[in-house]
Amino acid sequence: MTILQVKGLEKSFGGVIAAQNVGVTVSAGEAIGIIGANGAGKTTFVNMVTGHLPPTAGTIEFLGANIVGLPPRKITELGLCRSFQVPQVFLSESVFDNVLMAYGISEESGLSMLRPLRNAGREARVREHLVRYQIDQHTNTPASALSQGIRKLLDIAMATVRSPQLLMLDEPTSGISAEEKFDLMEIIMAALREEQTTVMFIEHDMEIVQRHVERVLAFSQGEIICDAPTAEAMVDAKVVEFVLGQEYHVGHRDDA
Ligand SMILES: Nc1ncnc2c1ncn2[C@@H]1O[C@H](COP(=O)(O)OP(=O)(O)O)[C@@H](O)[C@H]1O
Ligand SMILES: [Mg+2]
Repeated sequence: MTILQVKGLEKSFGGVIAAQNVGVTVSAGEAIGIIGANGAGKTTFVNMVTGHLPPTAGTIEFLGANIVGLPPRKITELGLCRSFQVPQVFLSESVFDNVLMAYGISEESGLSMLRPLRNAGREARVREHLVRYQIDQHTNTPASALSQGIRKLLDIAMATVRSPQLLMLDEPTSGISAEEKFDLMEIIMAALREEQTTVMFIEHDMEIVQRHVERVLAFSQGEIICDAPTAEAMVDAKVVEFVLGQEYHVGHRDDA
């Protein structure tokens, strides 16, 4: 089943072409890696699909419905969620309250002082979700006291609390130490599999890409230069020249 179909996406910023003729079809259950040198247009693509940036041209269909022009909040409600490169957590709040708030905010149009955030159903779901993301031992810890890796897990637990159909992650391992990031990705991918969430993530570490995705989209100068099974993409001439040859190397662990 096709869950996302993007055609002819274009975006320019002044003279900079950040997306040109970007098209991709994603089926339910896929795990897709998005690679490309800095400035290649990866984040712009995710921003357009999730409603954070209006495309100059092109169409985006999610579950068969056109979502171009919808606000991010509406797109989230339809089941297309994302994370940002920098975790979007409430630093002074506990892990539990962060996920509970994310749940409440996603269910109601903003938190209301008049409606209680806590209810048994939500609290049970939050507890179950903390276990799924292996952060239950930090339930009462304020987010400010967490390591970068645990904070990222919290961030993604918040983005997935309502079991999206499609999740887009912008560099989930950025800023995470080499020791932490491999475990981090194992936990995230296992959790997404368990909930049958289709995932697309931007990643610079080709070891992580090769381990976790069966398909790769490679961007260069706003264009998709390769859309292929991972093993094929890793030896594709354009990918080698414009992505791997630029700054990243297969098997190189220290590029965070
Ligand atoms: N809001 C913006 N205003 C102007 N230029 C932007 C903006 N966002 C991105 N760009 C430019 O678009 C290009 C693609 O950026 P981006 O999608 O962030 O790349 P990536 O995520 O692959 O590193 C870059 O040249 C970047 O400088
Ligand atoms: Mg980016």
